[in-house]
Amino acid sequence: MGIVHNKTNNTITLHTKNTSYQMKIGNLDYLFHLYYGPTLHDADLSYQIMQYDRGFSGNPYESLGERTFSLDAQPQEFSTQQQGDFRTASIEVVNGDGSYSFSGKAGKFSITDGKYRLETLPTVFANKGDTVKTLEVTLTDSVSDVDVILLYSVFEEADIITRAVKVKNNGKAPIHLKKIMSVCLDFINGSGMDLLSLPGRYGQERQVERQPMTHHIHTISSVRGSSSHQQNPFVVLCDKEATEDFGKCYGFSLMYSGNFLAEAELDQYDQLRLVMGIHPKQFVYEVKPGETFECPEVVMAFTEHGLTGLSHLYHDFYRTNLCESKFVTEIERPVLINSWEAAFMDFDDKKLVEIAKAAKNMGVELLVMDDGWFGKRDDDNSGLGDWFVNKNKIKCGLHALVEQINDLGMKFGIWFEPEMVSEDSDLYRAHPEWAMKIPGRPEVRSRNQIALDMSRKDVQNYLIEKVNAILDDANIYYVKWDINRSLADIWSNALPADKQGEVYHRYILGLYRTMNAIIKTHPDILFEGCSGGGGRFDAAMLHYYPQYWVSDNNHPIDRLKLHYGTSFVYPPSCMGAHISDSGKLVPLKTKAVVAMGGTFGYELDATHLTVEEQKLCKEQSELFRKYYHIIIKGDYYRLSNPFEVGNMTAWQHATKDRQESLLSVVVTNLTCNGPQEYVRAKGLNADTVYSVNDGQYTLSGSALMNAGLPIPREVPEYTAFQFHMKAI
Ligand code: GLA
Repeated sequence: MGIVHNKTNNTITLHTKNTSYQMKIGNLDYLFHLYYGPTLHDADLSYQIMQYDRGFSGNPYESLGERTFSLDAQPQEFSTQQQGDFRTASIEVVNGDGSYSFSGKAGKFSITDGKYRLETLPTVFANKGDTVKTLEVTLTDSVSDVDVILLYSVFEEADIITRAVKVKNNGKAPIHLKKIMSVCLDFINGSGMDLLSLPGRYGQERQVERQPMTHHIHTISSVRGSSSHQQNPFVVLCDKEATEDFGKCYGFSLMYSGNFLAEAELDQYDQLRLVMGIHPKQFVYEVKPGETFECPEVVMAFTEHGLTGLSHLYHDFYRTNLCESKFVTEIERPVLINSWEAAFMDFDDKKLVEIAKAAKNMGVELLVMDDGWFGKRDDDNSGLGDWFVNKNKIKCGLHALVEQINDLGMKFGIWFEPEMVSEDSDLYRAHPEWAMKIPGRPEVRSRNQIALDMSRKDVQNYLIEKVNAILDDANIYYVKWDINRSLADIWSNALPADKQGEVYHRYILGLYRTMNAIIKTHPDILFEGCSGGGGRFDAAMLHYYPQYWVSDNNHPIDRLKLHYGTSFVYPPSCMGAHISDSGKLVPLKTKAVVAMGGTFGYELDATHLTVEEQKLCKEQSELFRKYYHIIIKGDYYRLSNPFEVGNMTAWQHATKDRQESLLSVVVTNLTCNGPQEYVRAKGLNADTVYSVNDGQYTLSGSALMNAGLPIPREVPEYTAFQFHMKAI
């Protein structure tokens, strides 16, 4: 059904397979939001809007004294400004005449086949065979001649609706945007909902917090210049009763990697408004006559099947409609070893070859040379920006090094941190004006490096040329793209004083342009994103990189929480996960089981492992290859919550056809003389019989899901179990 306009009552209803979303061009041509939830059968839900004379909630002039019509109490698709709606705003614009006002009336709209695209920002896309329709509604402010264009694409089979906003200035004078949200969603009845978000910090990203909505504005945001370790541009609004398996859940995932804001406001009348978009901090964007400003896309999902149901919608969609890399569908990710925790910056070509040789015995397929190979880079005080090989370390040259690794039958990967510069670098000496510093003020130090002004075309072009030169010089199979500080000292020497409020956003636009020119022109290279671990782990980044480094924290027990939190929106196929030396008390086998929660690899000095340890690693690498299709392509189930007190953490991957599954358990706490514990599986066919671990048990799906598997009690600390279930 896609998108239906009912001419009689002027409703527009968007239908996915299991959901409907309704709006109406109503009273005085305002665009009202009526519904988002389980499928509607062409009803007009405007009967829900009850109107009363609400004191102190003014009435638009054109309502001609009708005191019961107040925008403060009406659910809107995109709220107005200075029209008597005092809730958190969708837009704050300064018009050409200096006034702060926007009163958008729905004028033209169109319904077309296919997905809209944005010119400056990454978006999801439609694949062949997807049923996708797009609605475009223009809200016009007739006084300022400013259009807010609302875009909706409906992915019918995927149960996904995307939204984006464009602002077009048709007037004669420049306007200035101070706040412009990508989505505004008003719930007529918003009581009884919880807000779930993914706060964290360096080394502890995407921990999960859930709080009841109360009568104030709940803010989830980042003002660090990137989407950040501290918050993630993803929120869920759900029934307060919602569990993993039941209950209504709404997800909002913003495709943006810079400062973002999500606000959820439960208002005086128990209406709930959710807005999400670019953070207004230090954001003043000029839109000249004839120009259009694009806001990033928000990917929305709704399900009645609880938080797991919501995660599955995002996992399925982000696995297929987000990143065009061959490594998403066609080519399997290699098992890699990364040099960082093996040698940090203390390595040369010989050391790397030694690590590769030892790793070869562990079933490793790719050696990644991390930080330290370029410029003058023996510690983190120098070298960033000088993207040429350090001949004192890589004595044989990059080409010959890569050949040696390739001769071992392994592939080669390399690390970059393109957005940064060290003061002690040739680049900084040649172009101090490229570094972000506020004139006349000493800059904020962070890892002794400064951000390059990515808003500048010359900086972008320099990086495109230098990074491409390295990628084209040798047989590079993989790139890790890092960024290791939050942005401060926001200033661009290339922009006049009155444009400095555009720098945060222009940085991100410049970054996307640079990544397009490097990543999209190297379709055979596997890219992994990183920001001091998972500091910029967002949907826009995953448009470019099929995988992202979850965290610099490799401790396997902490990783249980990191993988759990990340999985609320991002699939295991995106999660970089390695075995390292971190966690001395944790057995190697357990580290492997945890790393199989994502894209499996190693981050240790392989030359220090014993022959037995290397053999065990080889078995684990082979297991990852064997289970690849279940882990990377299957459904993911959170079986227990590692943030709650309990003795074990369990999770499960199951193939879509429910014929095969991998259930993993880590014993996190040993209690004396405790009860026998069982883990119940999910996502199986009740009446199919499964062989568990090649005949250890032969049980029906029903038994596995309802009675569960016993977890042996008398085991050493941090023992892990894997149960592979195969239909027979
Ligand atoms: C960041 C990354 C690490 C490593 C270092 C190198 O912290 O998260 O994995 O690449 O940078 O400096």
